[in-house]
Amino acid sequence: MAFSEEIRVRAKEIVSRYPDGKSRSALLPMLHLVQSEEGYVSSAGIAFCAETLGLTKAEVSAVATFYTMYKRRPTGDWLVSVCTNTMCDVLGGRRVYEMLSEYLDVGHDETTVDGKITLEHAECLAACDYGPVMTVNYEFFDRVDVETALGIATQLQEGKRPMPTRGARLCTLKEISLQLAGYADDRADALADGVAGEVLVEVGGVGYRVVVAPTTAVALGDVGDEVFVWVHHHVREDADTLYGFGGRDERITFEALLGAHGVGPSLALAILSVHDPVALARILAEDDVGALCLVPGVGKKTAARLLVELKSRLHIPEFDPRIGAGSRHASSANGAGTTYQPSSRTDVREALAGLGYSADEIHGATAELPDDGDASELLRRALRHLATARQG
Ligand code: FES
Repeated sequence: MAFSEEIRVRAKEIVSRYPDGKSRSALLPMLHLVQSEEGYVSSAGIAFCAETLGLTKAEVSAVATFYTMYKRRPTGDWLVSVCTNTMCDVLGGRRVYEMLSEYLDVGHDETTVDGKITLEHAECLAACDYGPVMTVNYEFFDRVDVETALGIATQLQEGKRPMPTRGARLCTLKEISLQLAGYADDRADALADGVAGEVLVEVGGVGYRVVVAPTTAVALGDVGDEVFVWVHHHVREDADTLYGFGGRDERITFEALLGAHGVGPSLALAILSVHDPVALARILAEDDVGALCLVPGVGKKTAARLLVELKSRLHIPEFDPRIGAGSRHASSANGAGTTYQPSSRTDVREALAGLGYSADEIHGATAELPDDGDASELLRRALRHLATARQG
Protein backbone atom coordinates (compact mmCIF):
# COMPACT_ATOMS: atom_id res chain seq x y z
CA MET A 1 0.00 0.00 0.00
CA ALA A 2 1.20 3.48 -0.83
CA PHE A 3 0.79 5.72 2.16
CA SER A 4 -0.93 9.05 1.64
CA GLU A 5 0.89 12.35 1.48
CA GLU A 6 -0.70 13.30 4.81
CA ILE A 7 0.83 10.24 6.49
CA ARG A 8 4.22 11.01 4.99
CA VAL A 9 4.07 14.58 6.30
CA ARG A 10 3.07 13.30 9.73
CA ALA A 11 5.88 10.74 9.66
CA LYS A 12 8.39 13.54 9.07
CA GLU A 13 6.85 15.54 11.89
CA ILE A 14 7.11 12.56 14.28
CA VAL A 15 10.77 12.03 13.39
CA SER A 16 11.45 15.73 13.96
CA ARG A 17 10.38 15.32 17.60
CA TYR A 18 13.58 13.41 18.29
CA PRO A 19 17.21 14.61 18.33
CA ASP A 20 19.35 14.17 15.22
CA GLY A 21 20.66 10.63 14.94
CA LYS A 22 17.95 9.28 17.28
CA SER A 23 15.17 8.86 14.75
CA ARG A 24 14.84 5.14 15.57
CA SER A 25 13.29 6.24 18.89
CA ALA A 26 10.28 7.34 16.84
CA LEU A 27 9.37 3.75 16.03
CA LEU A 28 6.48 3.35 18.50
CA PRO A 29 4.53 6.43 17.35
CA MET A 30 5.37 5.55 13.74
CA LEU A 31 3.77 2.12 14.18
CA HIS A 32 0.67 3.78 15.64
CA LEU A 33 0.67 6.14 12.67
CA VAL A 34 0.66 3.39 10.06
CA GLN A 35 -2.00 1.54 12.08
CA SER A 36 -4.13 4.71 11.99
CA GLU A 37 -4.06 4.52 8.20
CA GLU A 38 -4.71 0.83 7.61
CA GLY A 39 -6.32 -0.34 10.85
CA TYR A 40 -3.38 -2.67 11.46
CA VAL A 41 0.35 -2.82 10.88
CA SER A 42 0.69 -4.41 7.46
CA SER A 43 3.87 -5.55 5.71
CA ALA A 44 3.72 -2.27 3.82
CA GLY A 45 3.51 -0.42 7.14
CA ILE A 46 6.55 -2.29 8.43
CA ALA A 47 8.47 -1.39 5.26
CA PHE A 48 7.39 2.26 5.50
CA CYS A 49 8.58 2.53 9.11
CA ALA A 50 11.88 0.81 8.25
CA GLU A 51 12.52 3.10 5.31
CA THR A 52 11.59 6.26 7.22
CA LEU A 53 13.69 5.44 10.28
CA GLY A 54 16.66 3.71 8.62
CA LEU A 55 15.91 0.36 10.29
CA THR A 56 15.65 -3.13 8.86
CA LYS A 57 12.21 -4.66 8.40
CA ALA A 58 13.24 -7.40 10.85
CA GLU A 59 13.96 -4.79 13.52
CA VAL A 60 10.60 -3.10 12.98
CA SER A 61 8.77 -6.45 12.95
CA ALA A 62 10.41 -7.45 16.21
CA VAL A 63 8.96 -4.38 17.91
CA ALA A 64 5.55 -4.60 16.20
CA THR A 65 5.08 -8.20 17.30
CA PHE A 66 6.25 -7.54 20.87
CA TYR A 67 3.50 -5.07 21.80
CA THR A 68 -0.08 -6.34 21.73
CA MET A 69 -1.46 -2.92 20.81
CA TYR A 70 -0.02 -3.26 17.31
CA LYS A 71 -2.30 -5.51 15.27
CA ARG A 72 -0.67 -7.54 12.54
CA ARG A 73 -3.92 -8.60 10.89
CA PRO A 74 -6.88 -6.52 9.70
CA THR A 75 -8.79 -5.53 12.83
CA GLY A 76 -12.29 -4.21 13.29
CA ASP A 77 -13.17 -0.62 14.11
CA TRP A 78 -13.89 -1.83 17.60
CA LEU A 79 -11.41 -3.96 19.48
CA VAL A 80 -13.36 -5.58 22.32
CA SER A 81 -11.08 -6.96 25.00
CA VAL A 82 -12.53 -8.99 27.86
CA CYS A 83 -10.37 -9.67 30.88
CA THR A 84 -10.37 -13.37 31.71
CA ASN A 85 -7.58 -13.20 34.24
CA THR A 86 -8.05 -14.65 37.73
CA MET A 87 -10.00 -11.89 39.48
CA CYS A 88 -12.31 -11.11 36.56
CA ASP A 89 -12.66 -14.82 35.82
CA VAL A 90 -13.91 -15.46 39.36
CA LEU A 91 -16.37 -12.57 39.00
CA GLY A 92 -17.77 -13.84 35.68
CA GLY A 93 -15.37 -12.44 33.07
CA ARG A 94 -14.96 -15.74 31.25
CA ARG A 95 -18.71 -16.15 30.96
CA VAL A 96 -18.91 -12.64 29.48
CA TYR A 97 -16.20 -13.53 26.98
CA GLU A 98 -17.88 -16.82 26.02
CA MET A 99 -21.28 -15.24 25.50
CA LEU A 100 -19.77 -12.42 23.40
CA SER A 101 -17.89 -15.01 21.38
CA GLU A 102 -21.11 -16.92 20.75
CA TYR A 103 -23.13 -13.78 19.96
CA LEU A 104 -20.54 -12.34 17.56
CA ASP A 105 -19.65 -15.78 16.19
CA VAL A 106 -15.92 -15.18 16.52
CA GLY A 107 -13.15 -16.58 18.67
CA HIS A 108 -10.10 -14.95 20.20
CA ASP A 109 -8.45 -12.39 17.92
CA GLU A 110 -11.06 -12.87 15.23
CA THR A 111 -13.15 -10.24 13.48
CA THR A 112 -16.84 -10.34 12.68
CA VAL A 113 -17.78 -10.90 9.03
CA ASP A 114 -18.85 -7.27 8.66
CA GLY A 115 -15.36 -6.25 9.75
CA LYS A 116 -16.62 -4.08 12.61
CA ILE A 117 -15.71 -5.91 15.81
CA THR A 118 -12.61 -7.84 16.81
CA LEU A 119 -12.89 -9.86 20.01
CA GLU A 120 -10.03 -10.89 22.24
CA HIS A 121 -9.63 -12.18 25.72
CA ALA A 122 -7.12 -10.13 27.62
CA GLU A 123 -4.79 -10.63 30.52
CA CYS A 124 -5.27 -8.43 33.59
CA LEU A 125 -6.37 -4.97 32.47
CA ALA A 126 -5.19 -3.47 35.77
CA ALA A 127 -8.68 -2.72 37.02
CA CYS A 128 -9.29 -5.83 39.12
CA ASP A 129 -11.42 -4.04 41.73
CA TYR A 130 -13.90 -3.12 38.98
CA GLY A 131 -14.13 -6.64 37.56
CA PRO A 132 -15.37 -8.14 35.42
CA VAL A 133 -13.83 -5.57 33.11
CA MET A 134 -13.90 -5.19 29.35
CA THR A 135 -12.50 -2.46 27.16
CA VAL A 136 -13.41 -1.19 23.72
CA ASN A 137 -10.37 0.33 22.03
CA TYR A 138 -8.82 0.57 25.50
CA GLU A 139 -11.69 2.53 27.13
CA PHE A 140 -13.10 0.81 30.21
CA PHE A 141 -16.48 -0.71 30.86
CA ASP A 142 -16.44 -1.71 34.52
CA ARG A 143 -18.39 -4.43 36.32
CA VAL A 144 -19.96 -5.79 33.18
CA ASP A 145 -22.21 -8.80 33.08
CA VAL A 146 -23.38 -10.80 30.10
CA GLU A 147 -26.37 -8.56 29.51
CA THR A 148 -24.44 -5.27 29.52
CA ALA A 149 -21.62 -6.74 27.42
CA LEU A 150 -24.05 -7.95 24.77
CA GLY A 151 -25.77 -4.55 24.89
CA ILE A 152 -22.47 -2.80 24.22
CA ALA A 153 -21.71 -5.15 21.31
CA THR A 154 -25.17 -4.54 19.86
CA GLN A 155 -24.72 -0.78 20.03
CA LEU A 156 -21.36 -1.07 18.26
CA GLN A 157 -22.96 -3.18 15.53
CA GLU A 158 -25.63 -0.50 15.12
CA GLY A 159 -22.97 2.16 14.60
CA LYS A 160 -23.46 3.73 18.02
CA ARG A 161 -20.70 4.63 20.45
CA PRO A 162 -21.69 3.51 23.96
CA MET A 163 -20.29 5.63 26.76
CA PRO A 164 -17.47 3.97 28.71
CA THR A 165 -17.71 3.85 32.49
CA ARG A 166 -14.79 6.25 32.66
CA GLY A 167 -12.35 7.89 30.32
CA ALA A 168 -13.01 9.58 27.02
CA ARG A 169 -15.72 8.76 24.53
CA LEU A 170 -15.04 5.92 22.18
CA CYS A 171 -12.83 6.37 19.15
CA THR A 172 -12.40 3.82 16.37
CA LEU A 173 -9.17 1.87 16.38
CA LYS A 174 -7.82 4.09 13.61
CA GLU A 175 -8.76 7.24 15.52
CA ILE A 176 -7.21 6.05 18.77
CA SER A 177 -4.06 4.93 16.89
CA LEU A 178 -3.64 8.46 15.55
CA GLN A 179 -3.94 9.83 19.07
CA LEU A 180 -1.34 7.35 20.29
CA ALA A 181 0.93 8.58 17.50
CA GLY A 182 0.79 11.94 19.27
CA TYR A 183 -2.04 13.75 17.51
CA ALA A 184 -4.69 15.08 19.87
CA ASP A 185 -8.33 14.30 19.28
CA ASP A 186 -9.49 17.27 17.24
CA ARG A 187 -13.17 16.81 17.98
CA ALA A 188 -14.40 20.14 19.25
CA ASP A 189 -16.50 18.53 21.95
CA ALA A 190 -15.27 19.16 25.44
CA LEU A 191 -18.17 18.25 27.68
CA ALA A 192 -19.33 14.66 27.38
CA ASP A 193 -22.10 12.69 29.01
CA GLY A 194 -21.65 11.39 32.50
CA VAL A 195 -23.72 9.64 35.10
CA ALA A 196 -25.81 11.74 37.51
CA GLY A 197 -23.62 14.00 39.62
CA GLU A 198 -20.69 13.73 37.22
CA VAL A 199 -19.58 15.21 33.95
CA LEU A 200 -16.87 13.99 31.63
CA VAL A 201 -14.54 16.71 30.48
CA GLU A 202 -12.31 15.97 27.53
CA VAL A 203 -8.92 17.61 27.58
CA GLY A 204 -6.60 16.88 24.68
CA GLY A 205 -8.43 13.67 23.86
CA VAL A 206 -8.39 12.39 27.44
CA GLY A 207 -11.65 12.23 29.37
CA TYR A 208 -11.71 13.24 33.02
CA ARG A 209 -14.59 12.22 35.26
CA VAL A 210 -15.47 15.22 37.39
CA VAL A 211 -17.96 15.20 40.25
CA VAL A 212 -20.09 18.34 40.27
CA ALA A 213 -23.07 19.78 42.08
CA PRO A 214 -26.33 19.61 40.09
CA THR A 215 -26.29 23.40 39.75
CA THR A 216 -22.80 23.28 38.25
CA ALA A 217 -23.80 20.50 35.84
CA VAL A 218 -26.62 22.67 34.52
CA ALA A 219 -24.45 25.81 34.37
CA LEU A 220 -21.76 24.01 32.32
CA GLY A 221 -24.14 23.72 29.38
CA ASP A 222 -24.81 20.98 26.89
CA VAL A 223 -22.77 18.02 25.75
CA GLY A 224 -20.20 19.30 23.27
CA ASP A 225 -19.93 22.78 24.77
CA GLU A 226 -16.47 24.08 25.53
CA VAL A 227 -16.11 24.52 29.27
CA PHE A 228 -13.71 25.81 31.89
CA VAL A 229 -13.91 24.00 35.19
CA TRP A 230 -12.14 24.85 38.44
CA VAL A 231 -11.00 21.53 39.84
CA HIS A 232 -10.19 20.22 43.31
CA HIS A 233 -8.20 16.96 43.22
CA HIS A 234 -9.21 14.95 46.26
CA VAL A 235 -6.90 12.07 47.14
CA ARG A 236 -7.63 9.52 49.82
CA GLU A 237 -6.37 6.03 50.44
CA ASP A 238 -9.41 4.59 48.70
CA ALA A 239 -10.35 7.38 46.30
CA ASP A 240 -8.84 9.71 43.75
CA THR A 241 -11.57 12.09 42.68
CA LEU A 242 -11.86 15.35 40.80
CA TYR A 243 -14.49 17.83 41.99
CA GLY A 244 -15.43 20.56 39.56
CA PHE A 245 -16.76 24.07 40.06
CA GLY A 246 -17.94 26.82 37.79
CA GLY A 247 -16.01 29.52 39.68
CA ARG A 248 -12.90 30.02 41.75
CA ASP A 249 -14.85 31.23 44.77
CA GLU A 250 -16.86 27.99 44.76
CA ARG A 251 -13.71 25.93 44.82
CA ILE A 252 -12.19 28.03 47.60
CA THR A 253 -15.35 27.65 49.67
CA PHE A 254 -15.42 23.89 48.97
CA GLU A 255 -11.84 23.54 50.20
CA ALA A 256 -12.61 25.61 53.29
CA LEU A 257 -15.63 23.40 53.99
CA LEU A 258 -13.44 20.29 53.72
CA GLY A 259 -11.30 21.65 56.54
CA ALA A 260 -14.24 21.72 58.94
CA HIS A 261 -14.58 18.84 61.37
CA GLY A 262 -16.82 16.10 60.01
CA VAL A 263 -17.26 17.65 56.56
CA GLY A 264 -16.27 15.40 53.66
CA PRO A 265 -16.51 16.11 49.94
CA SER A 266 -20.12 14.89 49.71
CA LEU A 267 -21.38 17.18 52.46
CA ALA A 268 -19.30 20.10 51.20
CA LEU A 269 -20.79 19.63 47.75
CA ALA A 270 -24.28 19.32 49.23
CA ILE A 271 -23.80 22.63 51.09
CA LEU A 272 -22.67 24.35 47.90
CA SER A 273 -25.59 22.81 46.00
CA VAL A 274 -27.99 24.61 48.32
CA HIS A 275 -26.06 27.80 49.10
CA ASP A 276 -23.60 29.46 46.74
CA PRO A 277 -20.51 31.12 48.30
CA VAL A 278 -22.19 34.52 48.55
CA ALA A 279 -25.27 33.10 50.27
CA LEU A 280 -23.08 31.02 52.55
CA ALA A 281 -21.05 34.08 53.58
CA ARG A 282 -24.28 35.86 54.46
CA ILE A 283 -25.57 32.87 56.41
CA LEU A 284 -22.38 32.69 58.42
CA ALA A 285 -22.28 36.41 59.04
CA GLU A 286 -25.85 36.34 60.30
CA ASP A 287 -25.59 33.10 62.29
CA ASP A 288 -28.46 31.76 60.26
CA VAL A 289 -28.70 28.23 61.62
CA GLY A 290 -32.04 27.69 59.92
CA ALA A 291 -30.62 28.32 56.44
CA LEU A 292 -27.80 25.88 57.04
CA CYS A 293 -30.33 23.27 58.17
CA LEU A 294 -31.83 23.39 54.66
CA VAL A 295 -28.87 21.29 53.53
CA PRO A 296 -29.81 17.60 53.53
CA GLY A 297 -28.02 15.82 56.35
CA VAL A 298 -27.38 18.95 58.41
CA GLY A 299 -29.27 19.16 61.69
CA LYS A 300 -29.39 22.03 64.16
CA LYS A 301 -26.44 20.82 66.21
CA THR A 302 -24.24 20.29 63.18
CA ALA A 303 -25.31 23.62 61.73
CA ALA A 304 -24.42 25.47 64.93
CA ARG A 305 -20.99 23.84 65.01
CA LEU A 306 -20.38 24.52 61.34
CA LEU A 307 -21.26 28.18 61.79
CA VAL A 308 -18.48 28.63 64.31
CA GLU A 309 -15.90 26.60 62.37
CA LEU A 310 -16.65 28.00 58.96
CA LYS A 311 -16.59 31.58 60.12
CA SER A 312 -12.94 31.29 60.97
CA ARG A 313 -12.10 29.16 57.96
CA LEU A 314 -13.75 31.56 55.55
CA HIS A 315 -12.61 34.55 57.59
CA ILE A 316 -16.14 35.76 58.19
CA PRO A 317 -16.06 38.39 60.94
CA GLU A 318 -18.37 37.89 63.90
CA PHE A 319 -21.49 39.92 63.37
CA ASP A 320 -21.13 43.10 65.34
CA PRO A 321 -24.32 45.10 65.31
CA ARG A 322 -22.44 48.21 66.30
CA ILE A 323 -20.20 47.86 63.22
CA GLY A 324 -22.99 46.81 60.91
CA ALA A 325 -21.83 47.17 57.34
CA GLY A 326 -18.34 46.14 58.37
CA SER A 327 -19.40 42.49 58.17
CA ARG A 328 -20.33 42.71 54.51
CA HIS A 329 -17.03 41.52 53.15
CA ALA A 330 -15.56 38.12 53.82
CA SER A 331 -12.12 37.08 52.71
CA SER A 332 -11.15 33.50 52.19
CA ALA A 333 -8.06 31.87 53.54
CA ASN A 334 -6.07 32.58 50.40
CA GLY A 335 -7.17 36.14 50.17
CA ALA A 336 -9.89 35.83 47.58
CA GLY A 337 -12.78 38.02 48.54
CA THR A 338 -16.49 37.19 48.69
CA THR A 339 -18.78 40.17 48.80
CA TYR A 340 -22.41 39.57 49.63
CA GLN A 341 -25.49 41.69 49.46
CA PRO A 342 -26.91 42.24 52.94
CA SER A 343 -30.43 41.02 53.40
CA SER A 344 -33.30 43.10 54.77
CA ARG A 345 -32.80 41.27 58.05
CA THR A 346 -29.21 42.54 58.19
CA ASP A 347 -30.51 46.06 57.63
CA VAL A 348 -32.90 45.56 60.56
CA ARG A 349 -30.10 44.33 62.80
CA GLU A 350 -28.02 47.36 61.92
CA ALA A 351 -30.94 49.67 62.58
CA LEU A 352 -31.55 48.09 66.00
CA ALA A 353 -27.86 48.41 66.82
CA GLY A 354 -28.11 52.08 65.93
CA LEU A 355 -31.02 52.36 68.37
CA GLY A 356 -28.81 51.00 71.14
CA TYR A 357 -30.16 47.47 71.58
CA SER A 358 -27.71 44.84 72.79
CA ALA A 359 -26.41 42.03 70.57
CA ASP A 360 -28.49 39.47 72.52
CA GLU A 361 -31.66 41.52 72.17
CA ILE A 362 -31.05 41.99 68.45
CA HIS A 363 -30.38 38.30 67.95
CA GLY A 364 -33.63 37.36 69.73
CA ALA A 365 -35.69 39.95 67.85
CA THR A 366 -34.43 39.01 64.39
CA ALA A 367 -34.06 35.25 64.72
CA GLU A 368 -37.54 34.54 63.38
CA LEU A 369 -37.53 37.19 60.66
CA PRO A 370 -37.27 36.16 57.00
CA ASP A 371 -34.12 37.14 55.10
CA ASP A 372 -35.87 39.36 52.67
CA GLY A 373 -38.92 41.53 52.58
CA ASP A 374 -39.75 45.11 53.28
CA ALA A 375 -37.08 46.30 55.73
CA SER A 376 -39.37 48.83 57.46
CA GLU A 377 -42.03 46.16 58.02
CA LEU A 378 -39.41 43.77 59.40
CA LEU A 379 -38.11 46.53 61.66
CA ARG A 380 -41.64 47.11 63.02
CA ARG A 381 -41.96 43.40 63.79
CA ALA A 382 -38.61 43.36 65.55
CA LEU A 383 -39.49 46.39 67.63
CA ARG A 384 -42.81 44.81 68.64
CA HIS A 385 -40.89 41.70 69.70
CA LEU A 386 -38.46 43.77 71.75
CA ALA A 387 -41.25 45.72 73.41
CA THR A 388 -43.06 42.52 74.36
CA ALA A 389 -39.82 40.98 75.65
CA ARG A 390 -39.05 44.02 77.83
CA GLN A 391 -42.57 44.02 79.26
CA GLY A 392 -42.29 40.30 79.99
S1 FES B 1 -8.06 -9.56 36.65
FE1 FES B 1 -9.33 -8.45 35.33
S2 FES B 1 -8.59 -6.45 35.50
FE2 FES B 1 -7.25 -7.58 36.74
